[in-house]
Amino acid sequence: MKNNNKKRIGILTGGGDCPGLNAVIRSVVKKAEQVGFEVVGIEDGWQGLVGKVQARELKEKNVRGIMDKGGTMLGSSIINPLKIKDGKKQIVSNFKKLNLSVLIVVGGDGTFAIGKSLPKTFPIIAIPKTIDNDVFGTDFCIGFWSAVETATQALDHLRTTASSHHRAMVLEVMGRDFGWIASYAGLAGGADYIFVPEFEIDVDKVCKTIEKRTKKGKRFSLVVVSEGAKLNKKVSGIKIKDNASVGEKLSKLIKAKAGIETRSVNLGHIVRGGVPSAFDRVLGARMGAEAVKEASKGHSQVGIGLKGDKIIVVPFSRMKGGKKVNSEVYKTASVFFN
Ligand code: F6P
Repeated sequence: MKNNNKKRIGILTGGGDCPGLNAVIRSVVKKAEQVGFEVVGIEDGWQGLVGKVQARELKEKNVRGIMDKGGTMLGSSIINPLKIKDGKKQIVSNFKKLNLSVLIVVGGDGTFAIGKSLPKTFPIIAIPKTIDNDVFGTDFCIGFWSAVETATQALDHLRTTASSHHRAMVLEVMGRDFGWIASYAGLAGGADYIFVPEFEIDVDKVCKTIEKRTKKGKRFSLVVVSEGAKLNKKVSGIKIKDNASVGEKLSKLIKAKAGIETRSVNLGHIVRGGVPSAFDRVLGARMGAEAVKEASKGHSQVGIGLKGDKIIVVPFSRMKGGKKVNSEVYKTASVFFN
């Protein structure tokens, strides 16, 4: 790769992909050209900096027409270099080999944890992306709102068939340990009950809600359950396969207790794919540009966040996972559980 006096930004996308990553890459490349930096795209997340370098220069012509494409043009991986012998050393040495001045990592908790394990002097700038939206230091992560749109659309589809067949439909959505997608999509899609890992599941309550709805002449129901939600003990009498997903289990329990025909659908990775929402494209573009601005000021060990409608810069140490769902949103949704 060319080696002139221009400063060089490295960019990688790590962990689970999501819609909106290409908007970040495009923005970084365009803003970098404006401030006179070069950009090197690292392939497949941290994998591209471990062992043999996998990277390529990115110019404006390489990022044309990608704004509306899901996934990431750089590829991603969930490898953990901390588990590879000399993994950290290899990252630092490959960073030097590429003659980079700073590394922009677009990732979530896992990607950032690897960045934090590098020497404190390592020039890193973090951009939060994850459909799970569980990262502190930002109101929203890139990818979350696209996932909410997809899950909401799924609920809209399920409602019509639920209504025709007078069934309770259970929709399971990703979110790992937190119920952000389930709560927001559940509220937007008019769910009659939402289960999230942050609050204990009371299957009796949902069954009572469904029974009440039946009495009122409402002959179908929509229930959203987040991956990671746990069923409470009250329902342990009913036999269900151990390896059944939480959505399947819930669907069986509702059928047994509320006496209504049920079906369950697990959206799985569908929620991570597809066209990025306008919100994620805008957020990606703004965060990417801000990261380059920070790099051009010589700043590093920072993260780029969104607070209200403002793009903010926070210490990298603040950007970590574990953020629970906005309980006001869940409570608002629960007003409609009747
Ligand atoms: O963190 C994003 C996420 O999609 C989670 O919601 C989910 O638990 C996990 O990744 C799935 O990971 P994988 O694609 O490795 O199966």
